[in-house]
Amino acid sequence: MTERELMALAETARKHSYSPYSHFCVGAALLTKGGKVYLGCNLENASYTPTVCAERVAFFKAVSEGEMEFAMLAIVGGKEGEVSPFCAPCGVCRQVIAEFCPKDFPILLGTKEHFQTFTLEQLLPFSFTKEDL
Ligand code: THU
Repeated sequence: MTERELMALAETARKHSYSPYSHFCVGAALLTKGGKVYLGCNLENASYTPTVCAERVAFFKAVSEGEMEFAMLAIVGGKEGEVSPFCAPCGVCRQVIAEFCPKDFPILLGTKEHFQTFTLEQLLPFSFTKEDL
């Protein structure tokens, strides 16, 4: 699985986004070290606060099926109908990623044509993790 292929899968995942309130659609593709891919999209709710981001859906699907070793994460987002050039994960998702991934975990942001790779540490410096407890 190449980085570009994972970005393409994130774009596919985005198609299932349920976002009737924000009209902002996000897709995530999470590759395990074993080579499986878990997809996620954002799922909104009329009560707003139960909304879950695409990245957390992907992680919760994977972890709830016994996966604990991850290779990389691709994220694609944008307003309905268009993929924006860059969609960064929210702070809560960064914290969830930090629960399951090391500081050098690669996170791909952008589109399948043009993307950048960041480490988790670049996106969440000075993080609070289980090592602090
Ligand atoms: N969203 C994500 O799915 N991932 C992020 O990291 C940023 C925000 C979703 C949540 C909500 O459904 C919509 O984008 C607007 O915030």
